[in-house]
Amino acid sequence: MRMYDVIAKKRDGGTLSDEEIQFFIDGYVHGEIPDYQASALMMAIFLRGMTAKETASLTRSMAYSGDLVDLSSIDGIKVDKHSTGGVGDKTTLIVAPIVASLGVRVAKMSGRGLGHTGGTVDKLESIPGFRTSLDRETFFEIVRRVGVSVIGQSGNLAPADKKLYALRDVTATVNSIPLIASSIMSKKIAAGSDRILLDVKTGSGAFMKTLEDSIALAKEMVSIGEHVGRRTVALITDMDRPLGCAIGNALEVREACETLRGNGPEDLTEVCVELAANMLWLAEKGELAQCRDLAKQQIENGRAFAKLKEMVQAQGGVVRMLEDPAQFTQPKVCYEVPAPRDGFLYTMNTELCGIASVELGAGRERKEDPIDFSAGIVLRKKIGDFVQKGQILASFYSSEEKKCRIAEQTFLQALCIQDKMPKPVPLIHARVSANGVETSE
Ligand code: URA
Repeated sequence: MRMYDVIAKKRDGGTLSDEEIQFFIDGYVHGEIPDYQASALMMAIFLRGMTAKETASLTRSMAYSGDLVDLSSIDGIKVDKHSTGGVGDKTTLIVAPIVASLGVRVAKMSGRGLGHTGGTVDKLESIPGFRTSLDRETFFEIVRRVGVSVIGQSGNLAPADKKLYALRDVTATVNSIPLIASSIMSKKIAAGSDRILLDVKTGSGAFMKTLEDSIALAKEMVSIGEHVGRRTVALITDMDRPLGCAIGNALEVREACETLRGNGPEDLTEVCVELAANMLWLAEKGELAQCRDLAKQQIENGRAFAKLKEMVQAQGGVVRMLEDPAQFTQPKVCYEVPAPRDGFLYTMNTELCGIASVELGAGRERKEDPIDFSAGIVLRKKIGDFVQKGQILASFYSSEEKKCRIAEQTFLQALCIQDKMPKPVPLIHARVSANGVETSE
């Protein structure tokens, strides 16, 4: 078989066989196929697409390109969760303890933030002492004892995806439904959980900007999951506004704690209850309505917050920070952003809000960039709120006032203030399962 012929076949709109896909993945992972040929194939797939069968085959080859985590020594149904990435998305910190407090095992490998989106590993590392890198046995032991552990992606998990994702990032081939679906699902399959809940973000802060594309991506991933015997559900959630009020690592941990204490922002609480309910449903804890009640109950009775503290303790973090947020390292500069005019906060370009938080120091442009854990934004006004000129729209936290002034320009560009009120938009747009798509519109 020649790589040249595989590329030409896809370029001309052909359907690749399992053997051709396996040949490509093996050759690429072992360094026998060079980046320039892999790039050509990625672009051909980007332009020509893939059938559902090809996407499933690519996912399988990528998942099996490295180690597979075997969670069978941990009792019970293990449920994983994955978000396609957003701004202010601290849901894992809330949802994982809720379900773990009801006996569902969560052995989760999370990522770091890149570009305008945040990552759970960075948020957890803002808790002093918290270890996101654990050997396999310690990770399993914590999942068995506490019920939940969240670590960074470790070992040789889906190395084909690691190489291909880096290549796609620099060859303008990220935004392709079969390539995103296979990238995400290969990692989820290799990570070993029995059931998978996907949080597919849609809107200006998401990879998928339209509901139609988000549903297509969700359907593709659900179909792959079901194909390999992992029951999978996807919720399409809104990312046309930051989730909650806090954007930035330590700020988001504090907001997650407030939410677990029952005092979180309404939007964040609603999305978390729905995600937790779906994870509980996947773990066969009852009908969805019952699972929603169970999730709310674990917030009200304090058991979910207690579970987060147990996990933080088990992974070496300083638990008292969660009880008393004043203990987090305080930012050097606090800078208030006033409203430029009267009116209703009508829209927020969420990607620009994420970029503003990166400019404050909360994220990284390149993988090796350092992070300022205390940096970020707290929104004082949300979409639909009326503001008067000069009223505070947001508080910025950073190490330098200069960074705040740069971020202020980006943030103000993200906002649209109008005289009329915006129409309410649902936070959960759709639920996609093996039974089809249920929309809320
Ligand atoms: N997240 C991933 O893991 N892969 C993609 O291709 C896009 C988002």
